[in-house]
Amino acid sequence: MRLRHIKGAEETIAANKYVVQDPTAIKGKWSDFFREIREDDDDHPLHIEVGMGKGRFIMDMAEANPDINYIGIEMYSSVLLRGLQKMEERDLNNLRFLRIDARYIEDAFAPGEADRIYLNFSDPWPKDRHAKRRLPSRQFLNRFHNILNDSGTIEFKTDNRDLFDFALEEIAPGGFEPVVTTFDLHADEELCRGNIMTEYEEKFSSIGNPICKYVIRKNNAT
Ligand SMILES: C[S@@+](CC[C@H](N)C(=O)[O-])C[C@H]1O[C@@H](n2cnc3c(N)ncnc32)[C@H](O)[C@@H]1O
Repeated sequence: MRLRHIKGAEETIAANKYVVQDPTAIKGKWSDFFREIREDDDDHPLHIEVGMGKGRFIMDMAEANPDINYIGIEMYSSVLLRGLQKMEERDLNNLRFLRIDARYIEDAFAPGEADRIYLNFSDPWPKDRHAKRRLPSRQFLNRFHNILNDSGTIEFKTDNRDLFDFALEEIAPGGFEPVVTTFDLHADEELCRGNIMTEYEEKFSSIGNPICKYVIRKNNAT
């Protein structure tokens, strides 16, 4: 998703209280960071969505699961800005945003700091020479492997069958093993229970596209 550049987007984001401006300073300290804004002394799991777009999924997840801390990552200011406008109305204390390219995710999170990563309707980058830009590629999975703890998982949804087939092949070289796979999430009553739809999921499922999903976990032998 790449919206037309919105004038002043960078400045608005740089001044927004929901955007963590220097995540490298919080690397390894995300629990403390959230403890302060939540005003509690408890430890909560950390879940991250990479490529959140306008952020409806991560906001709905944060609202539904107040005991989990969430970070939404988006690399384009004009897209993130749309999410921030909605966040002003919802003011969730267990969700913050990073405007970064996820290629540098290891600068923002320490090894083992995250419990789960969501990838939703990631850009397909159809040309072979761009394969390593795909978020479920082995290059990205290796980065995610480093920031997830030993029982860490990744959940990936897409309606793009070519991208999903590619993603399935990347699981093992990326250092993970499959837990659950479906080629039609919405037809699977059990897997779909509690499913929170993303903007893209709503759009593509409404025109009849089946939604593929996998859940993978770290293969700690790698
Ligand atoms: C197709 S949109 C899907 C948005 C949302 N997840 C959904 O399902 O509705 C993919 C988003 O991922 C973002 N994205 C792609 N590569 C990224 C990267 N390397 N780092 C951060 N965001 C990225 C894009 O800017 C875009 O907003």
